[in-house]
Amino acid sequence: MKLLEQIKENAKKQCKTIVLPEGTEERTIQAADQIIGEGIAKIILIGKPAEIQDLAKKHQLNNIAKATIIDPESHDKKEQYADLLVELRKSKGMTKEQAMKLVTDPLYLATLMIKSGDADGEVAGAKNATGDVLRPALQIVKTLPGISVVSGAFLLLTNKPEYGENGLIVCADCAVLPNPTAEELAQIAVSTAATARAIAKIEPRVAMLSFSTKGSAKNELVDKVVKATELAKQMAPDVMIDGEMQADAALVPSVGASKAPGSPVAGKANVLIFPSLEVGNISYKLVQRIAGIEAVGPVLQGMAAPINDLSRGCSVSDIVNLVAITVNQAAGLN
Ligand code: ACO
Repeated sequence: MKLLEQIKENAKKQCKTIVLPEGTEERTIQAADQIIGEGIAKIILIGKPAEIQDLAKKHQLNNIAKATIIDPESHDKKEQYADLLVELRKSKGMTKEQAMKLVTDPLYLATLMIKSGDADGEVAGAKNATGDVLRPALQIVKTLPGISVVSGAFLLLTNKPEYGENGLIVCADCAVLPNPTAEELAQIAVSTAATARAIAKIEPRVAMLSFSTKGSAKNELVDKVVKATELAKQMAPDVMIDGEMQADAALVPSVGASKAPGSPVAGKANVLIFPSLEVGNISYKLVQRIAGIEAVGPVLQGMAAPINDLSRGCSVSDIVNLVAITVNQAAGLN
């Protein structure tokens, strides 16, 4: 069975509730209908009920009747969520008046539902920019214990079995932290190894990427990756991690053998860690568009509950896939 089918089949066994704050967005509501129909998750749609009903009628979406619909302006937990928000953000100067306004913002409301245990995860971003989806999540749901950095991984489903794990490569950070320190880069590596195990079901071999392999170039950017590699090895001694290395040394056995002889990772890496968000985001978009590789994600990692951000160019099936991944993450976190 293909990886995405496995992820969906596993989701069907979990009975998790996912909130979709962009409930009146056309692709989102169509995805919701499919998710409910296939039994991948229970769905909460945030949006004006009349608008949601009209869209359901327009697209003949019969399963939407089984979704829970929450009107952000007039739901009955407004006061309770506002109090929670004040409690969580009072050290940042949050007042009750500000909180009462924010609980009508679907993106804040969704994260407060998760924090209150009313939903297990969230998928958004079909119409909101990444920063707007992430900010309330980072402020309210925050990171897992022991982790200070949230990052975004992609599963690259290539048709080239000679690379990665039978063609599958997990890479990060492609979505969140613009310029990580060496410590943050090490955490990203460890989180991505965990994602590779939990979602991609592979034993990670992690390459810390650079424009240098094992000292072939001298530069402070290389030094950062060398330090991150050492820290990541200390943080996760049970994971195969090596670097710094170039992408060809990471992926191609003959290049790995000549540039990094003896490395347990070079030539057979299945997890790639980019040195910065610029590199990660540009790289995944280039391989996705030019090489036609299916890129699933970003799967946000390090968050205390699963919240995932879509690209605004997403399709209905991208949303269904990301909800299934979110359910798998929720099942793993509990
Ligand atoms: N991990 C954990 N916590 C974080 C992180 C992180 N990576 N980044 C910020 N935070 C925390 C902060 O500590 C802060 O917490 P606090 O308010 O409790 O003290 C809170 O989040 C808000 O942080 P700010 O710095 O005020 O928020 P900022 O405006 O910088 O937003 C954001 C953070 C949204 C993640 C920002 O770094 C960003 O926009 N990143 C780029 C996102 C992006 O555009 N990606 C590319 C597109 S995605 C794609 O193409 C798939």
